[in-house]
Amino acid sequence: MHNQHPPHLPTQEVQIQRLQQELLQAQRMAALGELVGTTTHEFNNILMTILNYAKLGLRHKDDATRDKALSKIMAAAERAERITSSVLGMARNRNDDFAPTELQPLIEQSLILLEREMQKYRIAIRREFAEAPPVRAIGNQIQQVLLNLMTNARQAMPSGGEMVLSLTHDAEHGMVDLTVRDSGTGIARDQLPKIFDRYFTTKAGPDATGKGGTGVGLSACRDIVEAHQGRIRVESTVGKGTAFTVKLPICTESDQPQAAAAVTQLGVPQ
Ligand SMILES: Nc1ncnc2c1ncn2[C@@H]1O[C@H](COP(=O)(O)OP(=O)(O)OP(=O)(O)O)[C@@H](O)[C@H]1O
Ligand SMILES: [Mg+2]
Repeated sequence: MHNQHPPHLPTQEVQIQRLQQELLQAQRMAALGELVGTTTHEFNNILMTILNYAKLGLRHKDDATRDKALSKIMAAAERAERITSSVLGMARNRNDDFAPTELQPLIEQSLILLEREMQKYRIAIRREFAEAPPVRAIGNQIQQVLLNLMTNARQAMPSGGEMVLSLTHDAEHGMVDLTVRDSGTGIARDQLPKIFDRYFTTKAGPDATGKGGTGVGLSACRDIVEAHQGRIRVESTVGKGTAFTVKLPICTESDQPQAAAAVTQLGVPQ
């Protein structure tokens, strides 16, 4: 059968692989686009805070009010700085190599980007981080997985709730488990086998933040996790909530040399 294939054309398998790569890239661009929307909105809020406290400080001549205004302005500006370094970190890190990756800072960076959105929907965030060794991962892609899972969790809790992020070390299997748990609607039993299918969605369309409804989020997560030789699994109870667990392999000795350089590149830009 292979003999019949014209030599100048890529095989079907290669074509499929390319298309899958392109879809992943498109999903990454869509996620970045959504973030631009979110962060622009947040910057507007921050500017409003700064303007209002600047006005307050100008109107009131007493030291106490001026000090208060200045420290509010300072806090708002510091928040803006954290957001820009997180977005820049994501945009500049084009390193698509596997490298030893600490998951905790990756989770924190993703949270900075979604913090305000979570507040808006009255979602409390709980962290349960155990000591865990670095995993062998492409940082950007795992961040993409995290943003997808966190956005799904948020959308499953339209009237608030709790999102728990946990890290555990599964020493027996040489993996680190990363769990995103929500106290949301849960997933019906008959839908559970379909949620990782491409284009499966129960959402009518993008929500007020412009997210959701294409049904590619979880299929991209699965593709990324599988390319990492990891696993993704879901547990859900209708009316109680859902937990997605991503298992990623711990770095082995042989991963170290190539990776040492990559770790330094991962730092947040100045
Ligand atoms: N945490 C969750 N709680 C409840 N249902 C969920 C959760 N995560 C996923 N789902 C279900 O799985 C479906 C598929 O999720 P997926 O992220 O792939 O697509 P989507 O969120 O609908 O759209 P998008 O591609 O924009 O992310 C969702 O439409 C929803 O029905
Ligand atoms: Mg989604």
